[in-house]
Amino acid sequence: MSNVDREAEIVLSAHEVSKQVSSPEGTLTILADVSFGINAGESVAIVGASGAGKSTLLALLAGLDLPTSGYVTLNGQRLDALDEDGRARIRAESVGFVFQSFHLVPSLNALENVMLPLELAGAAAPREEARRIIDRVGLKERWSHYPAQLSGGEKQRVALARAFATEPAVLFADEPTGNLDARTGSTIMELMFELNKSFSTTLVLVTHDSVLAERSERVLSLDAGRLVGDERAAA
Ligand SMILES: Nc1ncnc2c1ncn2[C@@H]1O[C@H](COP(=O)(O)OP(=O)(O)OP(=O)(O)O)[C@@H](O)[C@H]1O
Ligand SMILES: [Mg+2]
Repeated sequence: MSNVDREAEIVLSAHEVSKQVSSPEGTLTILADVSFGINAGESVAIVGASGAGKSTLLALLAGLDLPTSGYVTLNGQRLDALDEDGRARIRAESVGFVFQSFHLVPSLNALENVMLPLELAGAAAPREEARRIIDRVGLKERWSHYPAQLSGGEKQRVALARAFATEPAVLFADEPTGNLDARTGSTIMELMFELNKSFSTTLVLVTHDSVLAERSERVLSLDAGRLVGDERAAA
């Protein structure tokens, strides 16, 4: 555990995180020296123009990818100190994801999609737990439907149920309302903040939507791969 993380309740931190890729034109810097710590239970929006590095940062924070230099800690654990299996384990235990394009498994019905992470995490009664959270997101009558039989808003409800099912320490959401109409998007956003509160999850949300950003307690702004803003909403 690093000194920064020993401070009380930091659940997720970035330490001078940089990401570079090589291109025909030379080395391209996607993220440059990004550092911050996120407290347990905080809701944080990451904002910035298209191409600013938001999704790249999310992937690094979630241990889906490794930085070129610097490091990320999740629950006090340096992700770069783990091998791929170790990172997969910490993701299964501590992390939930919601994506713009839902990412449901098409061959599994809603209930089975929600059961999947519970089974991976070794839950005692995955079917019962999945039923409970499916009811919670308002899909009681739809549990047996396959993704193709669900509307966009319903699919995102399934994705939220799946993401919260294991009560992860951190929920990552990349443009969760990006594929929904404004009204459905705002219902989904309400549900997400409500679940976040009731499960005491830490929420890290990438969004273009200023309303969604303003609902968050803290806003991190990226510009061309640099952290240029870190603002907390007035209480
Ligand atoms: N594997 C890669 N190889 C080369 N360039 C990449 C790679 N991944 C991302 N990039 C580039 O890095 C920059 C940041 O990409 P990223 O997807 O993080 O942006 P973003 O802020 O999420 O944008 P958007 O709002 O459009 O989703 C972009 O210019 C992108 O083209
Ligand atoms: Mg993106």
